[in-house]
Amino acid sequence: MKWIKVNTYDEMSKMAAAIFEKQLIEKPQSVLGMATGGTPEGFYKELVQCHMKGDISFAEVNTFNLDEYVGIAAEEATSYHNYMYEHLFKHINIPRQNAHLPNGLAEDLEKECAYYDKLIEQNGGIDLQLLGIGVNGHIGFNEPGTSFQTRTHIVELAEKTRQDNAKYFPEEKEVPKLAITMGIETIMEAKRIILLAFGENKTETLKRIQQEGISEEFPASCLKNHPDVTIIYGS
Ligand code: F6R
Repeated sequence: MKWIKVNTYDEMSKMAAAIFEKQLIEKPQSVLGMATGGTPEGFYKELVQCHMKGDISFAEVNTFNLDEYVGIAAEEATSYHNYMYEHLFKHINIPRQNAHLPNGLAEDLEKECAYYDKLIEQNGGIDLQLLGIGVNGHIGFNEPGTSFQTRTHIVELAEKTRQDNAKYFPEEKEVPKLAITMGIETIMEAKRIILLAFGENKTETLKRIQQEGISEEFPASCLKNHPDVTIIYGS
């Protein structure tokens, strides 16, 4: 596990974008794992700029997002589909059918989860996965107590996570209770992982990765078992 401390949020965003840029130059048909949330907003801005400058093309790229809420339509402002469209997809040349997120409105959610894993596999697996981290150590929406053997699955969001995400909804009670998320095993199969964390509120969480052992009670600790993880962080 490689730790890179940065002084500013911009520095973190630029460094992460540079890693993705290099990945796309070396392998234009890369499969990228994407995250949403506040942390990667600056990263997406940087990536869009790289694209605008003509440095990278997404014409042959496939992306797979970590998660999506259950019960929210893709077109709704609060969906992760919409987040990705606004922050990345509408600014780049990715073919619409190459940008994948779980369908939180699927009639058969279990089937949707299995389909999502299959799709990742059919595309050759994830080359480079971006992660954020919840204050409680969640990655994707894998909350404390999630088995490390999980593949894409349906989760009940922790109360803390719903509170943290309430700022994106008109009212806290509108934050969905369920989501579809890549499982820990799905995430761990990515060939390379970049985790971004910025701010005082994440300092304790990162310390726990460094100081504690590997436990399902602290999902991000699984990353210590991965051969190629870089954590770019600051506060
Ligand atoms: C988002 C995701 C979550 C977030 C985490 C941190 O797709 O999977 O694990 O990365 O909740 O969110 P922020 O960046 O808003 O602090």
